[in-house]
Amino acid sequence: MRFLVAIDGPAAAGKGTISKAVAAHFSLAHLDTGLLYRAVGAKVLAGADPVEAAKALTPEDLQVDTLRTAEVAQAASRVAVDAQVRQCLVDFQRSFAGRDGGAVLDGRDIGTVICPDAQAKLFVTASAETRAERRYLELIGKGHDTTREIVLADVKARDARDAGRAEAPMIAADDAVFIDTSAMSIEQAVARAIEIVNAAYTAQN
Ligand code: DC
Repeated sequence: MRFLVAIDGPAAAGKGTISKAVAAHFSLAHLDTGLLYRAVGAKVLAGADPVEAAKALTPEDLQVDTLRTAEVAQAASRVAVDAQVRQCLVDFQRSFAGRDGGAVLDGRDIGTVICPDAQAKLFVTASAETRAERRYLELIGKGHDTTREIVLADVKARDARDAGRAEAPMIAADDAVFIDTSAMSIEQAVARAIEIVNAAYTAQN
């Protein structure tokens, strides 16, 4: 039986942590689809053409360890506006989703465009201020030199671009369940996500 979980939401809402935990709990493979856009964004920062970079993307490109920087995140958000770039990345995501047993995919358009037939859909969100504070602490913890104001402005710019684009904008699917993690610990958010996914899993099995 193929069980698909789609997890969407804005940057730093906790999607990544929740997706990894859900995948581990249900023994499913996990794809962080943001990495595809980050890998294309990184290549564009290095001088590549966005569509050519997306066409040539390989699984190895997702392993590059500099994809998590704020600069690459903004570049990813910019290339993600391009309909041709998005189209080039559809097959990679759908073939991952089609693997035996199923998978967890997280991103912005998984429940709406990439896997509209997913059995469980979550939209994980939190206030921009909460997300920026989390990201700020993470960056400072890694030794980056930044300020709360810069990180909040980055988060808001990325939200506006990701939600405002014409092609596959960040939006909750009609049948997605919302989790607002603003006032939740990681453990609470993970427990809530597993509870929601488990209801769909039990219904299917
Ligand atoms: O999830 P992330 O922060 O790593 O994503 C980086 C950017 O990639 C995000 O700002 C928008 C884009 N993205 C997208 O458009 N669609 C997805 N499914 C995943 C990411």
